[in-house]
Amino acid sequence: GAPVEVDISNLKPGEKLTVEWRGKPVWIVRRTPEQLEALKKHDGELADPNSDRKAYPTPEYAKNGHRSIKPEYFVAVGICSHLGCSPSDKFAAGAQPSLPNDWAGGFLCPCHGSTFDMAGRVFKNKPAPDNLEVPPHMYLSDAKLLIG
Ligand code: FES
Repeated sequence: GAPVEVDISNLKPGEKLTVEWRGKPVWIVRRTPEQLEALKKHDGELADPNSDRKAYPTPEYAKNGHRSIKPEYFVAVGICSHLGCSPSDKFAAGAQPSLPNDWAGGFLCPCHGSTFDMAGRVFKNKPAPDNLEVPPHMYLSDAKLLIG
């Protein structure tokens, strides 16, 4: 499939944009400073905090604490690594009774309950075997992202 160009100039902190790439949903999330700060707090609870697993190899430029090129913007394929459902956004604390009270925001797969942090990293002891896939991407300018 052809690469997809996305205009991110209207995306506000805390918002998510979904585009289609190769028939898959790709999310662009603009994280708030609080959401970025919270990424540091869950390492011990994550199955693969450094994205070392290889099922969906994380590009080198996203192998960092925020799993992205620019800390603010997270780009990921919105498909659960378990059986392919699409996780829903749970950006707020208390977003769902099944989430812990100190939930720092992230994604919850409705099919079998896998939870992911705001960098798409899966929590331990969940059915999903891997973090969400970070697709190949690059910035053409501050406002334009190229996926694929
Ligand atoms: Fe997401 Fe099973 S498909 S937890």
